[in-house]
Amino acid sequence: MNPEARKPFIAGNWKMNMTVAEARKLALEIKNGTLNESDDVEILICPPFGSLYPVSEVLKGSAVKLGAQNCYWEENGAFTGEMSPPMIKELGCDYTIVGHSERRSYFRETDEWVSRKARALLDVRVSPIVCVGEVLQDREAGRTNDIIRGQMLGSLDGLSSEDMLQVVLAYEPVWAIGTGKTASPEQAQEVHAFMRNILIDLYGLDVALRVRIQYGGSVKPENVTALMGQPDIDGALVGGASLEAASFLKLVSFKTGGID
Ligand code: PGA
Repeated sequence: MNPEARKPFIAGNWKMNMTVAEARKLALEIKNGTLNESDDVEILICPPFGSLYPVSEVLKGSAVKLGAQNCYWEENGAFTGEMSPPMIKELGCDYTIVGHSERRSYFRETDEWVSRKARALLDVRVSPIVCVGEVLQDREAGRTNDIIRGQMLGSLDGLSSEDMLQVVLAYEPVWAIGTGKTASPEQAQEVHAFMRNILIDLYGLDVALRVRIQYGGSVKPENVTALMGQPDIDGALVGGASLEAASFLKLVSFKTGGID
């Protein structure tokens, strides 16, 4: 495999945090802190919906990209409380996270919904970051691979090879999210390699080698370098440690050790 073809991708998922003022401040710190960052790392921040436009203004002229945390698949209409892919695009987003485990568990999102969202985003040229991951019970029962395969087949249903080249996957073991328990680099690599093999089955080797797979779940400056050193880990989707400029900037500079 040639990991050189896959640009490392560090993304901050701010979840339901930050006032607009706080979001603007953090975005500005990240913008200023990455001005000298070489362009061999892709950097993304995903604030809550209400801060997307204000943050897009702050990010003008910077290489830091903007993403949303969710969407609905219809273009417009009577869907109270939802945001459509064209609306997200208009706000300046290049990416949108879909199928995050918090949405799957608290909001009962299914793989079918995730695939519809991914399709609708691709139709307006916004790249979906499709999340999959097993809960602790499944891992302990030896069902991790079955769960991941099922989520991948369902969430990517109907996507062509061409579509897949615009998609980013994120492996986020639910037991590692916000818990301080990170999967070891070896545990994560094992699942990432499994996911890449599924991509080979579905889309062939060439596509599979070009799709980036992020790891998410308690990624911190202390563990990012070891995780990113794994052959099939191409990035990180970061919650808690993305909420402060200092730690997020250390994650972005994982190549130099992640920590000062
Ligand atoms: P965490 O969240 O880094 O706080 O564990 C990751 C995520 O949910 O994307």
